[in-house]
Amino acid sequence: MTPTSQKIALKTEYMDVLKELQKLNKPMEAWDLSKHLNLGYEKLMSGAVYTLEQNGLATFSESEVISLKLNKEGLSYYEKGLPERQLFKLFVKDGRKEVNLDELAAEAAKILGFKKNIFFIALTNMKKNKWVVTSDAAGTNQIFIYSEAAEESSLEHLLKLFTKDSPLSLSSIPKELQNEVKTLTKRKMVSREKGTVRIVQLTEKGLKIKISEIEEVQEEVLRITSDMLKSGEWKEKLANLKHYEVGIEGPRFQVGKLHPMTIVKNQIREVFFSMGFQEIRGPIVETAFYNFDSLYQPQGHPAREMHDTFYLKKPNKGILPKKEYVSQIKNIHENGGDTGSTGWGYDWSEDIAKKLLLRTHTTATTIRHLAKVGLENQKLPVKVFCIDRVFRNEKVDRTHLAEFQQIDGIVIAEDVSLSDLIGQITEFYRRMGFKKVITRPGFFPYTEPSMEVSVYSEELGAWLEMGGSGIFRPEVTYAWGIKHPVRVLAWGLGLERLAMLKLKREDIRDLYQSNISWLREVSY
Ligand code: PHE
Repeated sequence: MTPTSQKIALKTEYMDVLKELQKLNKPMEAWDLSKHLNLGYEKLMSGAVYTLEQNGLATFSESEVISLKLNKEGLSYYEKGLPERQLFKLFVKDGRKEVNLDELAAEAAKILGFKKNIFFIALTNMKKNKWVVTSDAAGTNQIFIYSEAAEESSLEHLLKLFTKDSPLSLSSIPKELQNEVKTLTKRKMVSREKGTVRIVQLTEKGLKIKISEIEEVQEEVLRITSDMLKSGEWKEKLANLKHYEVGIEGPRFQVGKLHPMTIVKNQIREVFFSMGFQEIRGPIVETAFYNFDSLYQPQGHPAREMHDTFYLKKPNKGILPKKEYVSQIKNIHENGGDTGSTGWGYDWSEDIAKKLLLRTHTTATTIRHLAKVGLENQKLPVKVFCIDRVFRNEKVDRTHLAEFQQIDGIVIAEDVSLSDLIGQITEFYRRMGFKKVITRPGFFPYTEPSMEVSVYSEELGAWLEMGGSGIFRPEVTYAWGIKHPVRVLAWGLGLERLAMLKLKREDIRDLYQSNISWLREVSY
């Protein structure tokens, strides 16, 4: 049932709010509106705005804003002018057109209290604004006037938009001044604050409705009392009886819930469990031994370089497994050991293998498990997965994070093949809601053959690369006693890509920034 069927009835007080909003004819911030109307905030929101909203005349929305507030330094420039403006005024006093740099610096120190660094900031900006030019052609540093008018700079323009004590919302700053916001921040004149704004806005109906069409209610009668019934007074009160809207939804409660990423991860876990896998965890701080060496990545491999891997400074060395296994790995790297391979043919260093680092992939954890399965001669098949955090020194942007998560899995079993691997991966994505999966030849030092995995997003109409996979080479598995006819299927997939598709985000950073309104709205 909607309220449109009846004539709208409003208390005089609320009617005044409606009239004022019609007059203002623009969305209003709730606190401003309450000040403007001289009406208490609570009364405005839970009385007037609520009633107008119930009648379809107004809407109310909350959003997060970032605003800028002048700090002490900013405030002082707001009042006295930017250093460049102050210095310019000092320079041109008495019609001066040229001055020696050191002289002006001394004057600025004495009169404006400018330290050397402020003086040079001021000078640089005077030049940038094309108010002055400098030259040392005559042997001394001279400053010359360039524009007597010294037009207002964009930074000054921006500064004017501020008020002394209330913050300025970032989104209210015109586009052409957004660049200056950076300057303002760089020059340390503002601090950033996060806040919530509540906007009250008339709907189209609210804007159009004529006040004469609304029934004005002097006094609203909330209920008919027994006294009213006895005295017969109820008959007169009937017209003023508050209307109940039974079709209206109750208030929304914001209850605590799991983070969307946790929900996606749990869904992935459920899918793997349903496919017969068990979950494993492993250390975030790893040795290069498990992260690289046991995966047959040569010690000179570029991925080990500092630009990719975060190495630990203190402690910088970890503990390696028993000597016999370490020498297996050494042999395999140097000459292939008993794997039938010739190895990489270089001198393998134990010191490099001992280095501690932040795991760059969760394959470090699956290989640890593989080692355990091999050494303990565990019953096969073994099917495990690991979904956890990894770290790489990447520049953060809309598709990259330096700390992200991977989904690695291995199947250790007799006589499994590439088609089993494709089957496992395809089935995983199918159960996650992606019907189309393709694999293409790829390369990893630890698998042969290797495959890249992509899924098709119906929504984006595009194939998206999800990760890598393959069959672990003998150089990886033999050291731990896992040999033909047993093979190990392995994969490592990105969690965030998948989560972005599931949660409909285009910027990877959104997944972890946890914007509160997104957390409230998001559905999976
Ligand atoms: N570790 C690889 C990566 O981080 C993915 C991978 C895992 C590839 C297992 C093959 C086998 O991209």
